[in-house]
Amino acid sequence: MKTLNINLKDKNYKILIGKGLRNKIKNILDENFKFKKVAIITDENVYKIYGKEIKQQLLSGNKKVEFIILKPGEKTKSFNILTEVYNKLLDFKITRSDLIIALGGGVIGDLAGFVSATFLRGIKFIQIPTTLLAQVDSSIGGKVAVDLDKGKNLVGAFYHPELVIIDVDVLNSLDNRVFYDGMAEVIKYGCIRDEKLFNTLMSFNCKNDLINSMEDIIYTCCDIKRQFVENDEKDTGERMILNFGHTIGHAIEKYYNYEKYTHGESVAIGMYLITKLSEYKGYTDINESNKIKKILIKYNLPCDINLEKFDDLLETISLDKKNLDNVLNLILLNKIGDAKIVKSSLEFFQEVK
Ligand code: GLY
Repeated sequence: MKTLNINLKDKNYKILIGKGLRNKIKNILDENFKFKKVAIITDENVYKIYGKEIKQQLLSGNKKVEFIILKPGEKTKSFNILTEVYNKLLDFKITRSDLIIALGGGVIGDLAGFVSATFLRGIKFIQIPTTLLAQVDSSIGGKVAVDLDKGKNLVGAFYHPELVIIDVDVLNSLDNRVFYDGMAEVIKYGCIRDEKLFNTLMSFNCKNDLINSMEDIIYTCCDIKRQFVENDEKDTGERMILNFGHTIGHAIEKYYNYEKYTHGESVAIGMYLITKLSEYKGYTDINESNKIKKILIKYNLPCDINLEKFDDLLETISLDKKNLDNVLNLILLNKIGDAKIVKSSLEFFQEVK
């Protein structure tokens, strides 16, 4: 097992990364916390695979356990679902000395985190991410949120977990598309901060090689995210570099109504297109976009869209809440492993064709 420590101004917490950690949850919790009750927020799919075994483990330690099982999918991360979840916590009579566990992917992590931040003005919570995307990105760094009808993540907070438990073995139960969705964020870390990681990912011959190195890879990604979060917890400066590929990516997701491309797939296209464009404009070394294209193809990720759609995407980017007064903080690469923030505007995209 590997451990990372996140040290923030007002809070420190650990990320545990290892194989089979889901079978040690009871011991890990007992070693780190005093509590009587634990509410586990999860979705139907995750509950089906891991619910029973985790429940038995925790009951064997004489804890009161309540599962709150929600429908899988982004629609669950809605502001409207909060009343139902808060009521279930009230019925369970959970107190501020108890715990909430977020057991699932990004949707569950964000929602359960938001519930924990707000219920009784804050309950301690643990992240147990079950997708690769959640393990390397959304479970770390304290961004918790729910969606409004008008857009994603519009109501949220910075509220860090007490502990993140990453069981690398749960990746074996993911279908390929969900697994590769997370690989887009792994590749992103290589692009923005770690050329060695990028080259290692390029060097694997098959999925098995990758899976065998997954503990190290997840550690490397979490460690990179740790540095950005420690240096800029509230996302006003260098943490924005984690959004490489996301300006175009978010626009693609939204344009296709979150149905055609997953988050990782949209970010994959975003990383390639922004780098192609920034190469063309002289911000990035020549040939870096080709390297990105190759690695995305290798990991079953898309890298291009029909460019006729690009004008519509520009419209979507212009409506993005991050595009304040037409100032866009663009994340561009100098080269693979080295990123920068460039203040620009929508005009940057005009010559994409
Ligand atoms: N997902 C980007 C961040 O946490 O800042």
